[in-house]
Amino acid sequence: MKIIVAGTGFVGLCHAAVLSETGHEVYAYDVDAQKIAAYNSAQREQIERYVNEPGLAQIIAENINRYLFFTTDIESIIDGADAIFMCLPTPPQPNGSSDLSYYDKALEYIAPLLAQRKDQRRVVIINKSTVPVGTARRLENILKKHNVPNIGIASNPEFLPEGDAVEKSRRPDRVVVGADTEEDHKILRRCYSQFVNHVRIAYIETTPETAEAIKYVANTLLLTYVSFWNGVGARLGETFPNVRMEDLKRGVTADNRISKWGSYVSNGAGGSCFGKDIQSLIWQFKSNNVATDLLEAVYRINEYQKTYLIDRAIQESTANFNHKTVALLGLAFKKQTNDMRDSSALKVVEALLARGVKEIRAYDPLAIHEAKRFLDPSKNHLFEKITYHNSVKDALKGTDMLFISTDWEEFRGLSGTIEQMVQPPYLIMDGRRMIPDYRDLVEKGYEYIAVGSPYMHDEETVS
Ligand SMILES: NC(=O)c1ccc[n+]([C@@H]2O[C@H](COP(=O)([O-])OP(=O)(O)OC[C@H]3O[C@@H](n4cnc5c(N)ncnc54)[C@H](O)[C@@H]3O)[C@@H](O)[C@H]2O)c1
Repeated sequence: MKIIVAGTGFVGLCHAAVLSETGHEVYAYDVDAQKIAAYNSAQREQIERYVNEPGLAQIIAENINRYLFFTTDIESIIDGADAIFMCLPTPPQPNGSSDLSYYDKALEYIAPLLAQRKDQRRVVIINKSTVPVGTARRLENILKKHNVPNIGIASNPEFLPEGDAVEKSRRPDRVVVGADTEEDHKILRRCYSQFVNHVRIAYIETTPETAEAIKYVANTLLLTYVSFWNGVGARLGETFPNVRMEDLKRGVTADNRISKWGSYVSNGAGGSCFGKDIQSLIWQFKSNNVATDLLEAVYRINEYQKTYLIDRAIQESTANFNHKTVALLGLAFKKQTNDMRDSSALKVVEALLARGVKEIRAYDPLAIHEAKRFLDPSKNHLFEKITYHNSVKDALKGTDMLFISTDWEEFRGLSGTIEQMVQPPYLIMDGRRMIPDYRDLVEKGYEYIAVGSPYMHDEETVS
């Protein structure tokens, strides 16, 4: 099939690459010429500057100019297309609603081209982005306005988790396709022939609106579960002496009905989707006069959790943030990605700077390039206080306190490195519970606060 993927960010690039592996002729289109030039170079470092996913650069190198083509010129490739996957940004607006302007702009540009195409065979426009329920219909109206002949619309939300995007694109748990007609479902089945009758992959055919709703329910439910552990599990570990978080988690999730995924406590869930999607669903409900109490509580708990350890430090520690030097380990929103969108580390930086720290010495194995973009001193002169380092040890040098914000494996069990690099009085704020033997550090005079660990003044009473 001839397939166009419009938008080559995390979702579009992974989707285009994995589709090309199955022998489709895939044209990945983006308005960002620098991005397209980087992908066309087929050089790993160039590609990973934009999307850093294990295995992705290799698929691109193997398929480029055979099954996979990158372009900024959709006009030259639109003729003969069977399917156009829209993988465009849908960021939140200040009121929480989804900004659909990228969609409108792209569609207003593409629709007249579709109307004029020489080959008038059926083409389906498929939303892969997370879009409010009813967006496929909005898209249909734009196409109708431009009198595009022989066109179908569909919704095919993406569920890939960053850090494991290639694997999950190759073997998703489910493929959800919402379309109006059998003809359009048939086209989608041909796109996804490797999944349709797969024994372990649920291939679900439904209406466009149901497909759109499935994505919102799935994402907000995951965030609800994470927030339950943060808002209830962690509080139990903090409030009552001798409650051990790791045992609590194992005991609860030994029940098959309760998910192991998400049963961790942390300084909040970030990333480009959770916060944006829950805000959008709240807005969609509010616009229809539906109560949103549960969703609002979940959103609030998650946001609060991001900097909660700093509040705890102020209450429990003797440390004062003013003019202090802080090591920040982890900038990406989770391990195995360089993505910093809505990362908890951004909130941590903001909170530390607001409390007058002198310097933040940051280290992340993948996200430093991204961090410099997000924390650009030309946007806020306080970001000049952030310095970037090449290792955990370098970041720790000369610091008064440490904040661990991302769950990179190399941050696990850091007590030896901490003892080697910094001496008490020293405050450790562990947002990811990466130091299981922290009591040894406490005995040596370090102050330690983790999500779910006892309040410091209770620590002496714990055996
Ligand atoms: N990132 C994820 O893990 C993830 C997972 C599931 C779903 N989603 C959803 O998928 C959508 C895309 O997310 P993303 O992370 O890939 O976004 P992204 O910002 O990384 O990529 C979007 C791309 O679209 C391009 N673009 C913008 N306007 C365009 C236009 N008019 N024509 C062509 N290209 C255009 C941008 O240049 C960019 O490369 C969002 O709705 C998101 O919620 C994301």
